[in-house]
Amino acid sequence: MHISFIVPALAATAIAAPSIGPRQAVQKITVDATKQYQTIDGFGFSGAFQRANLIVNLKEPKQSEVLNLLFNTTTGAGFSIVRNGIGSTVDSSKDFMNTILPKCPSSPDGVPDYKWDGKDSGQLFLSQQAVKFGVKTFYGNAWSAPGCMKTNGNDANGGSLCGISGARCNSGDWRQAYANYLVKYVQLYAESGVKVTHLGFLNEPDMTTSYASMRSDGTQAAEFIKILRPTLDRNNLTDVGINCCEATGWSIANQHASQIASAGADGMIYAMTSHEYTSRIGSPMRTKAKVWQTEYCDLNGGWSTGWYQNGGAGDGFTWANNIFNGIVNSNLSAYIFWEGIQDRATNNNNNEKLILVEGQTYQVSKRLWAFAQFRVVRPGAVRIGASGGSNLKSAAFANADGSTAVVVINSGTGAQTVGISLGADALKGKTVQAWYTDNTHDASVTEVKIGDDGTASASVPGRGMISFLVSGTTTNAKAAV
Ligand SMILES: *[C@@H]1O[C@H](CO)[C@@H](O)[C@H](O)[C@H]1NC(C)=O
Ligand SMILES: *[C@@H]1O[C@H](CO)[C@@H](O)[C@H](O)[C@H]1NC(C)=O
Ligand SMILES: *[C@@H]1O[C@H](CO)[C@@H](O)[C@H](O)[C@H]1NC(C)=O
Repeated sequence: MHISFIVPALAATAIAAPSIGPRQAVQKITVDATKQYQTIDGFGFSGAFQRANLIVNLKEPKQSEVLNLLFNTTTGAGFSIVRNGIGSTVDSSKDFMNTILPKCPSSPDGVPDYKWDGKDSGQLFLSQQAVKFGVKTFYGNAWSAPGCMKTNGNDANGGSLCGISGARCNSGDWRQAYANYLVKYVQLYAESGVKVTHLGFLNEPDMTTSYASMRSDGTQAAEFIKILRPTLDRNNLTDVGINCCEATGWSIANQHASQIASAGADGMIYAMTSHEYTSRIGSPMRTKAKVWQTEYCDLNGGWSTGWYQNGGAGDGFTWANNIFNGIVNSNLSAYIFWEGIQDRATNNNNNEKLILVEGQTYQVSKRLWAFAQFRVVRPGAVRIGASGGSNLKSAAFANADGSTAVVVINSGTGAQTVGISLGADALKGKTVQAWYTDNTHDASVTEVKIGDDGTASASVPGRGMISFLVSGTTTNAKAAV
């Protein structure tokens, strides 16, 4: 059942809402739109390393069901960012992502022989489907340059981009060729109907792995940014933002930020990006750029779908708090999970995915529903003030369409009635809707009561999360003042 209330002018008491159970004191959260913080770019996930093919290979209706779970803003997580891996491997062996340049010309200024397979490891299909759901933010992120541009001649096992300080190669300086290659990727996506809005050229550059990896510190990254930015601009891609540098953790990312600032390249990047594996988000990063958390998950736990199981790293409730902490306490403009979908065989069926896709079947974790609780916060929203209530974490956002989103986590063990107050008469003529998630509910619609004082309230279970959306003026005659 869909329940939402149209609030008539001041006559809030006229609304006969069903009882919401035993009377609880309303825990009031006051929203203050005069306090303005960061702008939100969105929430997302990745289908990198051929995981997107799991969706490509699903038959209908399952394919649509999974796509709706990921992107639908009323029945799913409403994700608004897709992070795609830009392939660097010469072929698609194992789960590797193939590159558009399997063989470099003999010298950096030779003509590159790009090979576009029109699939991009399933990520093009995933992106085209996302476009249909209204997704506008596509982050193309290379784990490495092709091996033929690197000191170690391999896209895997670390190595550096030839030409970067400290990385000399007999074949020459491949920095401009790498920038051209990234531009080509953006152009190929554009020809397929997907506008890549953000571009990254590193992934976990503080770590060497047996799969695609390329080393860089912030100073070396800044050297490349100073080549990539004008290359994008010359190709009329002035609106493509450069993101950097996908550190394994927050403390390394802080070093990257200060090195990039020292090199004078901070004005050329859109967002500083980091993962949370080797160190978690602490306080806001010291940078003039926006900050995105671009990859994190529980890599250790066995596949679990629960919301609250003693606060485990894979619990949905833990994820509600992870996202909340990043956005509200650490000034993030985006929070991106690792894999949206994955199969059972990969990594012993751990928790690094939101949805387990196995052949033609799928299972949804509550981590997805934690993100769904944030779907009321749309790209372009400005975080505004929210405070009050005991055992409640709250945050409010002014969406670009004029609606107000309020997300609330109940940290207590008992149910609470949460009331949101946007100021006197603020709900006049507005629609207030609310959804909640707990062990047995997945962003379920719940009833909202409007009190005499103009507070919109609803009940949230212990260790549950509730999200309110106060929508713009309605044309409903009853709501007219
Ligand atoms: C989202 O789901 C609803 C309900 O099933 C459906 O009506 C709507 O078309 C879906 N949105 C998109 C963009 O497919
Ligand atoms: C960029 O746009 C300008 C103006 O529309 C056009 O003249 C020029 O050819 C374009 N350059 C490229 C590389 O697309
Ligand atoms: C938060 O991020 C914005 C950029 O999105 C920045 O302008 C602002 O200074 C940051 N605030 C803090 C407290 O770091």
